[in-house]
Amino acid sequence: MASISCSTFILLVIASLLAVTQANTVVVGGSENWRYGFNYTDWAIKNSPFYIHDTLVFKYESPHNVYLLPNLWSYLTCDFSKAKLLANPKQGRKDGFAVVINQWRPYYFASGQGDDCKIGMMKFVAVPWPRLTH
Ligand SMILES: *[C@@H]1O[C@H](CO)[C@@H](O)[C@H](O)[C@H]1NC(C)=O
Repeated sequence: MASISCSTFILLVIASLLAVTQANTVVVGGSENWRYGFNYTDWAIKNSPFYIHDTLVFKYESPHNVYLLPNLWSYLTCDFSKAKLLANPKQGRKDGFAVVINQWRPYYFASGQGDDCKIGMMKFVAVPWPRLTH
């Protein structure tokens, strides 16, 4: 009996994890878009939680861009040596650059242009959670 209810529970959890309904699309920074000098850490805290399969949209003008940093340390120090470029300075125009956050892990986003990350506050962490309620 115990093993049956246990596997039933696991199936329910998997079904919840796979649920793709109710995914949100969020414009990073809201009406401020992705710009120098706006506090994205603060924005991310106020707009949490994010969920798996949500879409983040970065809207910006050149010369800003969007990188994914590999770990907490590179995020804290704005070290782009092992960062992955997600969107170049042109890709933020018009409807912006959209990225689906589809894994249960921290996503370290930052702009790699000049002082954008270190002084311009253009960085934040998003940890998308599984939706367990739908
Ligand atoms: C940005 O916001 C965070 C969270 O509210 C805060 O801890 C931090 O001090 C702010 N940074 C600056 C430079 O104001």
